[in-house]
Amino acid sequence: MKFINTDMTRKYYFILILIIIIISSSCNPIHNKENKVEELLEQMTLEEKIGQMNQLMNFSPNIPIDSSFYQLIKNGKIGSILNAMSPEMIHEMQSIAVEESRLGIPLLVGRDIIHGYRTIFPVNIGLAATFNTELIKETTSIAAKEARSEGVNWTFAPMMDIARDPRWGRMVESCGEDPYLAEQMAIASIEGFQGKNLSNKNSIAATAKHFVGYGAAIGGRDYNSTLIPEIELRNVYLRPFKAAIDANVATVMSGFNDLNGVPTSGNVYTLREILKNEWNFNGFVISDWGSINNLQQHGYAKDEIDATIKALEAGVDMDMSSSLYLNNLKSLVDNGSVKEELINDAVRRILKIKLDLNLFENPYATNDNELLTEQALDIAKKTVIQSTVLLQNKNKTLPLSRNIKKVAVIGPLADAPHEQMGTWVFDGKSENVITPLNALKNFLGAERVNYAPGLKISRTRNKNGFADAIKAARNSDVVLLFMGDESILTGEAHCRAELTLPGYQNELIEEISKLGKPTILVMMTGVIHMVEPYLDKVDALLYGWHPGTMGGPGYVDLLFGIESPSGKLPMTFPRTEGQIPIYYSHNNTGHPASDESWVRMYDIPVKAWQTSLGNTNHYLDYGLEPLFEFGFGLSYTEFSYSDIKLSNKAITMSDSLIISTTIKNTGGYQAEDVAQLYIRDLVGSIVRPIKELKRFKRIRLNPGEEKTIEFVLYPKDLEFHNGEEWLIEPGEFNIWVGNSSKAELESKFELK
Ligand code: BGC
Repeated sequence: MKFINTDMTRKYYFILILIIIIISSSCNPIHNKENKVEELLEQMTLEEKIGQMNQLMNFSPNIPIDSSFYQLIKNGKIGSILNAMSPEMIHEMQSIAVEESRLGIPLLVGRDIIHGYRTIFPVNIGLAATFNTELIKETTSIAAKEARSEGVNWTFAPMMDIARDPRWGRMVESCGEDPYLAEQMAIASIEGFQGKNLSNKNSIAATAKHFVGYGAAIGGRDYNSTLIPEIELRNVYLRPFKAAIDANVATVMSGFNDLNGVPTSGNVYTLREILKNEWNFNGFVISDWGSINNLQQHGYAKDEIDATIKALEAGVDMDMSSSLYLNNLKSLVDNGSVKEELINDAVRRILKIKLDLNLFENPYATNDNELLTEQALDIAKKTVIQSTVLLQNKNKTLPLSRNIKKVAVIGPLADAPHEQMGTWVFDGKSENVITPLNALKNFLGAERVNYAPGLKISRTRNKNGFADAIKAARNSDVVLLFMGDESILTGEAHCRAELTLPGYQNELIEEISKLGKPTILVMMTGVIHMVEPYLDKVDALLYGWHPGTMGGPGYVDLLFGIESPSGKLPMTFPRTEGQIPIYYSHNNTGHPASDESWVRMYDIPVKAWQTSLGNTNHYLDYGLEPLFEFGFGLSYTEFSYSDIKLSNKAITMSDSLIISTTIKNTGGYQAEDVAQLYIRDLVGSIVRPIKELKRFKRIRLNPGEEKTIEFVLYPKDLEFHNGEEWLIEPGEFNIWVGNSSKAELESKFELK
């Protein structure tokens, strides 16, 4: 009989397991990264650590860069640069960091790549109008590849501020009013920018901004205070950010606004408690431009020292361009006012992202020369087609016949390549842009196009060009008006109290409409205009946003019916500015209004009894309805929705619910539609919105074709925050499907 020494065997097993653990942990990339971060941290002086927390822009375009900036990088006093003037400059600065600084820590090269890098896609509110997450992912993946090919490794996007006030200039960078749409678009953008893995050579780090509530600026005036109750903060404004964190966004940017009295760049509650503690965010937080310094202007910090301490303690890890961390943190640690542990935590987070991006191995431009590829331009055109919203099409004026003899092309945006790229474009070039005029000449031949802009720019206030424009219109079979805004009239700090066309554009539309020619208005803008006055002056209205590089070819495909419009409004279009804020997902009042309950101002009898009008929630002059609702957008065909079926009439907390509906193309064109699913929680422990978007799906159907599609909902989708905690409450829910927020095909279910 063989004698087995069990003690010895156990010992061997133990040693074997130990060896396996050691080997596998040394192969574990997460473990390696953590080690590398700790190794670096140990070698770093306090000044070098603070340097990592400092981000600066070099304003001089000169190469070689001036000696003071050179010294800062060489001495490890800059961890990141932003918005550098050229790829050559990026390369120079990166090589100083990598080759000449003591520890060779690469720079994060940040840039505002907001709706494309060299290939410019429609502005973000237009991208949201596509309701197409796969397409959005493609746009950001193209932008990442292009950016990385020139040495940029970090973008300050996506912006995920909810915008419910179109006066706010930055609504153009947003996905509009709805938290679910914003959340889905944010996830898609992040996946495109960051790729499957940040370490891929074509990935760049993304930024969820602006944390948080920035879009709720009072009066729609940029940078203004925001007052957001906890219920709304959680259910609306924080939602896309939570989704971004779950999608592993690398960085978060704090904002310029004060939130309920506390500036968001010094806000312990939002940054430290919610983002870092509750959500376990393990990337890093960058301030917005100079917003640490701004704590003084807010009256929240008494001086630079106070501002530095407040921002750091709140959880801002990197200081964008105010240099307060650089100038003050060392002495604050030395005199005991700031704990070095806070600095170590910030630096760990920053180094982790640098390692995740593989910058130590791969700090420079990929030089892949992948700019404006055929694939990128195709996607850009597709985004124009899917983002443009058809708001009116009287007598089926559109699509136009390809045999049309002459087309008048009028308006200050018809041939304005710079303007059609929209706001926040640093790297797009006018010479790569195809304007509507050029695309129409390509498509029809120059001899069939009568071009007369009528107005030089969108703000022109004289009628010198009117006679030529009217003549061009008279000599044509159809008039195409390309009206809108120069890009500078939209975006950051460019808010408008009056949302109407600037200059003499209204007058030009008026004059042209008198000619009685079939007239199509294409709005090229980043602003939501009060378009009601134009509806009886033009036959068709396409809302084409600022469409970017491929605007012209995209519009041509739509105008001539090669594709049908399929964009849907990501923001409610009011009839007048006085209705703002107006959004579909509001609560019911105790006095809900309807069209029947609204007694029009001029119908009120003289000396009518005070309560005789019925006391409901509307304006006497404008009623309650917007001009066009959220989710709205026409097509060249018609779609019918029928047969809503639910897998169950009642579900429990552990079930899911399948909702199916049949969609039929009942018109004569192949086209896409966006099927939208809304719910209403009928009775809640707090008042719940009258409708909430929960799912959407793009479908393409041939004439006469029908498809049954399915949506799946989970109890988690019915969750809401009551100001203190998240709840999923049993009860009855209405459910609707259709192709706008007015969806009427209805069913009901119960959550038990
Ligand atoms: C904007 C940010 C932007 C930053 C850097 C700020 O003014 O608010 O959104 O990323 O500038 O350019």
